[in-house]
Amino acid sequence: MTIPAELVERLRDARNILVLTGSGVSAESGVPTFREAQSGLWENFDPLQLATPEAFLSDPALIWRWYRWRRELVAAVEPNPGHFAIARLESVVEQLTLVTQNVDGLHQRAGSSDVIEYHGNLFATHCFNRCPEAAPKCPANKADSPPQCGTCGGWMRPGVVWFGEAIPPAALAAADEAAHDCDLFLSVGTSSLVWPAAGLGELAMQSGATMIEVNLDATPLTEQSHFVLRGKSGEILPELVNSITV
Ligand code: APR
Repeated sequence: MTIPAELVERLRDARNILVLTGSGVSAESGVPTFREAQSGLWENFDPLQLATPEAFLSDPALIWRWYRWRRELVAAVEPNPGHFAIARLESVVEQLTLVTQNVDGLHQRAGSSDVIEYHGNLFATHCFNRCPEAAPKCPANKADSPPQCGTCGGWMRPGVVWFGEAIPPAALAAADEAAHDCDLFLSVGTSSLVWPAAGLGELAMQSGATMIEVNLDATPLTEQSHFVLRGKSGEILPELVNSITV
């Protein structure tokens, strides 16, 4: 893919970049996305049956096993060139903030630092009753059903943000600030449908940022983007970073 010269110039001149990623950036690692036809998780599983606090309370063991299956899947794959390119970009630009909607931890495994995990992390757990400093009574990842909280005896739950739940306040504030301050916004592998993450682009645009979208399909952000690179992030992002480093 030829990266437009004007895009290369804007990327070279950018002083403060915000990168927002979604499940598409992990697709080439073998992690299913959420909404893609046939392969997306929500094509095969009902999110309201699996990714809500109500669903957890109605069948904790089922939900726990489903997240254990996702943890094992992610533990068995590797970051792909898209993840590594973002980590490399971080090392060659003045300031870069990486906000991910992904809960797989693959950005960190690729070397990205200070990743804002907007929707939490699959490998984290916390007490359902939000006891501070709660620790599971037994090793979480071996259990067939959710372990109990060492503080209140209630359920421990996966450390992800479920539908209907608020974004962790620190992540929300840090992402909003980065969107407000950035001069270049790079959206990668997200359908830009789920809020409030989908609103970060709008915030960046209001601040006059250059808007770049790297995605397989068109999204609500496409029309608002100055540059659209249509294709696989694992192929495009290395080219993009090469364009300002090689
Ligand atoms: N390279 C680039 N883009 C890709 C690739 C790829 N290899 N594979 C898929 N895509 C694109 C698809 O075209 C789609 O637009 O990634 C997007 C994935 O969209 P979704 O499946 O909706 O995932 P995401 O945007 O991350 O979902 C947001 O919704 O279900 C919740 O909490 C969950 O964080 C998730 C949030």
